[in-house]
Amino acid sequence: MKEYKIAVVGLGAVGREMLATLERSTLPISEVVPLVRRNEGEVIEFRGQMFASKLIEKGSFKDIDIALFSAGEEASLILAPMAIEEGAVVIDNSNAFRMNADVPLVVPEVNPADAQRHNGLIANPNCSTIQMVVALKPIHDRFKIKRIVVSTYQAVSGTGYQAIDELKQQMGAFINEKEIPCNVYPHQISLNVLPHIDKFMDNGYTKEEMKMFNETKKIMGDASIQVTATTVRVPVIRCHSEAVNIETEKPMPDVAEIKEIMAQAPGVVLADDVENNIYPLALDCAGKYEVFVGRIRKDYTIENGLNMWVVSDNLLKGAALNAVQIAELLVEKDWVKPSSDKKISFAQ
Ligand SMILES: NC(=O)c1ccc[n+]([C@@H]2O[C@H](COP(=O)([O-])OP(=O)(O)OC[C@H]3O[C@@H](n4cnc5c(N)ncnc54)[C@H](OP(=O)(O)O)[C@@H]3O)[C@@H](O)[C@H]2O)c1
Repeated sequence: MKEYKIAVVGLGAVGREMLATLERSTLPISEVVPLVRRNEGEVIEFRGQMFASKLIEKGSFKDIDIALFSAGEEASLILAPMAIEEGAVVIDNSNAFRMNADVPLVVPEVNPADAQRHNGLIANPNCSTIQMVVALKPIHDRFKIKRIVVSTYQAVSGTGYQAIDELKQQMGAFINEKEIPCNVYPHQISLNVLPHIDKFMDNGYTKEEMKMFNETKKIMGDASIQVTATTVRVPVIRCHSEAVNIETEKPMPDVAEIKEIMAQAPGVVLADDVENNIYPLALDCAGKYEVFVGRIRKDYTIENGLNMWVVSDNLLKGAALNAVQIAELLVEKDWVKPSSDKKISFAQ
């Protein structure tokens, strides 16, 4: 059986989860190559073998089969074309190429077939979009979603390891009545709620909100779905929570049937028993692979409306796990080789 040499580019919050997820996966891996821009030589134990991190340089991707990128947009823009040129297939976690027409944007539970038409690069969607489309795809397939109104409650780990440190430092400083350090966000995040994720656009939305609008259409393969989002950072370390309201074209069945659909949906766990105070909670979902759905109820203000609460681990299904699942899909279906010789247009 062929074994694959897999590079992990960037060893931050997502990169480290990628290594752990790869280790737990069933992928046949001959070697992992952790690639960094500093701190060369960090030893990573992987399935009983030791691999040292290496500085990225020309030729780093020469004998790599699959390169998982989580080093940020700037790094991806420069290094992903180099990796493809050197023969690796790139699965990129950044925002750099998600809306590029030559690049599939894939969530394996939703649009696995899109992965087949890659030309050396597959984009991993935005974390808040991934968990929402996993939960909504089975409903869209049956009742056709016309409009989504979503408010997110996003964990600080979505910003990376520096934001996790900052939240911890701010909590310590508050308890010890010290001055609260504030470097990562424009405002204190501990004991606070910031309606601001990524930068503001000219239309008044944040880039994160526009990612949910654009990426949902591309992943679902349906440009008619309307999405309006308010994305909010909350002082939680792991797991994004979302209040999702949908309106469908076809009449929806009663809530019991929707719950049944959710219980059967790939990658979804139904956690909905309000009589016993059971609903998805960030603390419970941290470290888990699935998307958790609860608080399902009809929206009585419109004809075909539904509300739900969706929680998932942003570092796993929102990032590392989804990327590893894409790699598993490529290997399982024998799609690792690019589908054509077409060169990706990076000018888009
Ligand atoms: N966190 C999430 O929940 C999440 C979800 C979906 C997508 N993403 C995306 O995943 C990417 C990584 O996010 P993260 O949360 O892991 O951020 P992070 O914790 O800040 O880690 C980023 C890592 O990339 C490294 N890096 C930066 N430039 C590099 C370069 N040129 N070459 C090699 N390594 C480089 C950094 O190195 P230093 O340590 O030297 O600074 C750091 O270790 C981002 O594009 C982010 O948008 C994140």
